[in-house]
Amino acid sequence: MQQPPSHPTATPGSSASSGQSVPEVPGTPAAPADTTGAAGPAASGIAATVSSLMPRAKDELAELVAFRSVADPEQFPRSECEGAAAWVAQALRAEGFQDVAALDTPDGTQSVYGFLPGPQGAPTVLLYAHYDVQPPLDEAAWSTPPFELTDGPDGRWYGRGSADCKGGFVMHLLALRALQANGGLPVSVKVIVEGSEEQGTGGLERYARTHPELLAADTIVIGDAGNFRCGMPTVTTSLRGMTLVRVQVDTLEGNLHSGLFGGAAPDALAALMRTLDSLRDAEGNTVVDGLEAGGSWEGLAYPDEDFRRDAKVLDGVGLVGGGTVSDRLWARPAVTVLGIDCPPVVGATPSVHASARALVSLRIPPGTDTEKAIGLLVAHLESHVPWNARVATEVVGQGQPFSADTSSPAYAAMAEALRTAYDGLEMQTAGMGGSIPLCNALAELYPDAEILLIGLSEPDARIHAVNESVDPRELERMAVAEALFLRTYAQQA
Ligand code: BES
Ligand code: MN
Repeated sequence: MQQPPSHPTATPGSSASSGQSVPEVPGTPAAPADTTGAAGPAASGIAATVSSLMPRAKDELAELVAFRSVADPEQFPRSECEGAAAWVAQALRAEGFQDVAALDTPDGTQSVYGFLPGPQGAPTVLLYAHYDVQPPLDEAAWSTPPFELTDGPDGRWYGRGSADCKGGFVMHLLALRALQANGGLPVSVKVIVEGSEEQGTGGLERYARTHPELLAADTIVIGDAGNFRCGMPTVTTSLRGMTLVRVQVDTLEGNLHSGLFGGAAPDALAALMRTLDSLRDAEGNTVVDGLEAGGSWEGLAYPDEDFRRDAKVLDGVGLVGGGTVSDRLWARPAVTVLGIDCPPVVGATPSVHASARALVSLRIPPGTDTEKAIGLLVAHLESHVPWNARVATEVVGQGQPFSADTSSPAYAAMAEALRTAYDGLEMQTAGMGGSIPLCNALAELYPDAEILLIGLSEPDARIHAVNESVDPRELERMAVAEALFLRTYAQQA
């Protein structure tokens, strides 16, 4: 089981300056923000309401986590996603949302929409989350049942999607309830909860592009990112895009005896391994012919030692790639082989393989167009297959990178809200290497809207891995921050 997270007591000012590293040492605490400023004296009312709502939030998160809402009908029945969508829709109706609907998106999944009007003339804020989750992987490798929200000895709540991103939806609910209980909603709110974010199949992106009015808003809060470190309030300002490509290699009509034929017969698995290996240089840098890979990151630095600890790299094992860790994670492409279809070790026969298949992911940094990167990756794969082996590629998912405009007024409101919710800690801005494909679509559709990424997926949450969890204190503080943000933002507007 993991160690309880340590919380920094304070951090010096914004990290937007070049190369500043994550502060480890307590700095001068900011003035208490509870008495002045747009958050006002009522910030404590918001905090008290959220605190009192935490038991209910836990029950609700448990109900939501119980849906095995993996948006892949080859792995889980669609009814699990439909159940989660219906649950979200019902929760919105119970809060008084109007026009609540589970929208059928072009990839066969559903996104749940609702609208809650605020005061006349108030700005509109769109709150985003997704109810679909990653598959649990090896369920036996979990310390607790993946689809039962379970208390850990470290105080965290364990379960698939607890942080990514069912907890993000509960965060939105908490924030809205806190505002309703403390003077009312200061803005009009649209909520959209996507049903296939984790698949990269772009259902909601395509729906949004054909219904451009639906998600129009002055400001957008994406509740699917997370703090750079648990307890360190962070807004994510850049995301990599990504693509998923299947590559299949065929060489023979059928498998052959590796003694009788091995040495001359073209082995499809060997051809696939060579092809995949061509995607890295000796240092471990990603190499795709023609793809720019020398980017550098100008913001928050990620010291090697911190990264090794967060990634739980085994003693003595080296990191891969050149440049700083921040360059590699946030400003450069990265290829990962996600799966290979070939015979498993147990039951393998001494054979030369006729066919083999892999799923390759490529992360694409801001500044590179995903369509262009896909073209280069496919061309690279097809041209690096040896021995004239037959090769076929299929793009199964994709999303554009995203880069935020942090000079916008909403960022100032968020900085103030986070400082108040986190007892004077200053907001950090950080890049993230993960992808949320809808962000770029929203930025294109609504060029004037300000887009802020916050959430519960800090490194200890271990999203996408076994034993995913959420820190309830993080949920509580982020919900307070979101409520304060909406209030402060409305006062500015
Ligand atoms: N919430 C994550 C992305 C994320 C995590 C952003 C932490 C910022 C901080 C999101 O749900 C995710 O994992 N997306 C997938 C999308 C892909 C399949 C298209 C990803 O990045 O693998
Ligand atoms: Mn995810």
